[in-house]
Amino acid sequence: MVTFGEVLALPRTSLHVDRGSSIAIMGPSGSGKSTLLACIQGLEKPTSGTVQVLGQDQRSASARARSDLRRRRMGLIQQSPNLLEEFSTSENVAFPLLFDGMKRPHALKLAVEALRGVGMAHRTDADIRSLSGGEAQRVAVARALVRPDVSLIVADEPTASLDVENARRVTELLLSEADRHSATVLLATHDPAVAALCDRTYHLTREHDAA
Ligand SMILES: Nc1ncnc2c1ncn2[C@@H]1O[C@H](COP(=O)(O)OP(=O)(O)O)[C@@H](O)[C@H]1O
Ligand SMILES: [Mg+2]
Repeated sequence: MVTFGEVLALPRTSLHVDRGSSIAIMGPSGSGKSTLLACIQGLEKPTSGTVQVLGQDQRSASARARSDLRRRRMGLIQQSPNLLEEFSTSENVAFPLLFDGMKRPHALKLAVEALRGVGMAHRTDADIRSLSGGEAQRVAVARALVRPDVSLIVADEPTASLDVENARRVTELLLSEADRHSATVLLATHDPAVAALCDRTYHLTREHDAA
């Protein structure tokens, strides 16, 4: 459970996700999808209850331990791809590795491999402004999966800005690339067609809806 003043988010939420599996988190706006994903990432602490992620208890872990786990083992995809226009496609994908101090040639080599995985190998030097919405989101998927040891992909409505066809394509690429890395996927979505591509779906309800 998480409380924000009077707001009670995620009461009675209990979810176990097997490693390597994919789970869609569905529920109306305000039902707590983003709050749940924030608890898993260690950005929000539950007021009560426990959150175990990759063997770490996120509620008792230090800020440093939470940030290390997030940086080293998790990949994040949001509704907006959040790419930096000053940099090329491959530089954007390499960014998490460069930030960690990896040497540039090695980081760019891994970035190109990750771009190949999402069918964007032909756009490694592309200007970010020239990418379509679907292409930009595929680059964001590559960035989330660029780390060879990524274990958990957290995707918060990754297809909410895409048309039906691109939503399906981006989700399929996300799931197949995660599978190739044996990474677990937690994906919040409003879209039943996107949820249906995941191994299973967990439904959140708003407290007053459930009452
Ligand atoms: N930082 C915050 N401060 C206060 N209330 C918040 C905060 N974050 C989320 N909430 C509230 O918690 C509930 C769940 O929100 P959220 O997790 O964003 O839902 P969803 O992602 O399913 O739309 C909502 O009532 C929202 O207003
Ligand atoms: Mg949300």
